[in-house]
Amino acid sequence: MDLFEYQARDIFAKHGVPVLPGAVATTAEDAKKIAEGIDGMTVVKAQVKVGGRGKAGGVKLANTADEAFTHAQNILGMDIKGHTVHKVMVAQASDIAEEYYFSFLLDRSNRTFLAMASKEGGVEIEQVAEETPELLAKVPVNPIDGVDVAKAREILEQGRFPADIIDQAAEVVVKLWDVFIKEDATLVEVNPLVKDPSGKIIALDGKVTLDENAGFRHADHEELEDKSAVDPLEQAAKEKDLNYVKLDGEVGIIGNGAGLVMSTLDVVAYAGEEFPGQPKPANFLDIGGGASAQVMANGLEIILGDPSVKSVFVNVFGGITACDEVANGIVQALALMHERGEEVTKPLVVRLDGNNVEKGRAILNEANHPLVEQVDTMDGAARRAAELAGAK
Ligand SMILES: Nc1ncnc2c1ncn2[C@@H]1O[C@H](COP(=O)(O)OP(=O)(O)OP(=O)(O)O)[C@@H](O)[C@H]1O
Ligand SMILES: [Mg+2]
Repeated sequence: MDLFEYQARDIFAKHGVPVLPGAVATTAEDAKKIAEGIDGMTVVKAQVKVGGRGKAGGVKLANTADEAFTHAQNILGMDIKGHTVHKVMVAQASDIAEEYYFSFLLDRSNRTFLAMASKEGGVEIEQVAEETPELLAKVPVNPIDGVDVAKAREILEQGRFPADIIDQAAEVVVKLWDVFIKEDATLVEVNPLVKDPSGKIIALDGKVTLDENAGFRHADHEELEDKSAVDPLEQAAKEKDLNYVKLDGEVGIIGNGAGLVMSTLDVVAYAGEEFPGQPKPANFLDIGGGASAQVMANGLEIILGDPSVKSVFVNVFGGITACDEVANGIVQALALMHERGEEVTKPLVVRLDGNNVEKGRAILNEANHPLVEQVDTMDGAARRAAELAGAK
């Protein structure tokens, strides 16, 4: 999960990394209020999860609170590389003597952590890496040893940081390492890390990516998620522990096991070519192995909640999952939605095979729901689901 700069700044502050006072606002009025509470000049910064905000006009210095208001008004709603600005951070402005670059990241290809440091910061680091690679130090970090002051100095020396600030910068680097490890981050980047005219080292911009797989260790990370950017159905699915990905077609897909669901997507896309409008898969939904009736009901509810879905293909191969459980889940889900007054109008094509298949098919036959149709083969069911979606 990528964080906004203001969230990265909060995490930096929590671990003692020096940052400037500031706060986030969604309106120009609030931006002005924040600026009024800050001594001296301020900087108004677009909060979008994409680089190059400065160049795009999303970072502006303000002499007065009224100027901060005007900048915020101009920056809010701005489009930066396809990202609309909904928030700005108003921070104290600092005079800058020098700008450096520093980051810790997970180097997947070399299976290690990596520190990168350069005395040439502020500008695009990709450019430094390309044009003057000797100025960007890349130092592997052993996760067991970690980063102490001595290791931090070694990294900074390789990045050719000036001798007069190395001691102070090394302390900051150790704190950035704390952020990286204690927050389970896969990226902590500071560009620029600056020296102000009094010689103080400050993190002026921060980029942090948190490892979502470690989310269970951090109760406080969940609230950092940008809910407005998440598809509401994906959010609902996540809350129910379902693996759901929204796609842009018309055939809703539910299967058990990622492999089966993926091949179902292929089969449906292929079958869809024959029918008007060439219907395609509307989503990926894996109810997993050993799925119960309740899980099936949760899955169906999500899929039927997607307005672009015109037909649903339930493809289950019972291994651990028993087909009768799945069939009960379908019947229960339809009954539940009926009770709630959510009338289901989309046809369901169900293909069951494997563990307890006879029982499962019998349950569906008995329920005899007008919208549920059984087809015995995967190819046949895919064609039927595509045909029904194409006919709508
Ligand atoms: N608080 C501040 N005071 C003074 N100048 C600042 C401040 N914050 C940023 N700047 C100046 O603006 C430049 C760009 O800011 P910043 O690094 O935050 O954005 P960016 O690099 O354009 O965005 P990104 O890092 O997302 O690519 C900095 O290099 C620095 O010169
Ligand atoms: Mg930057």
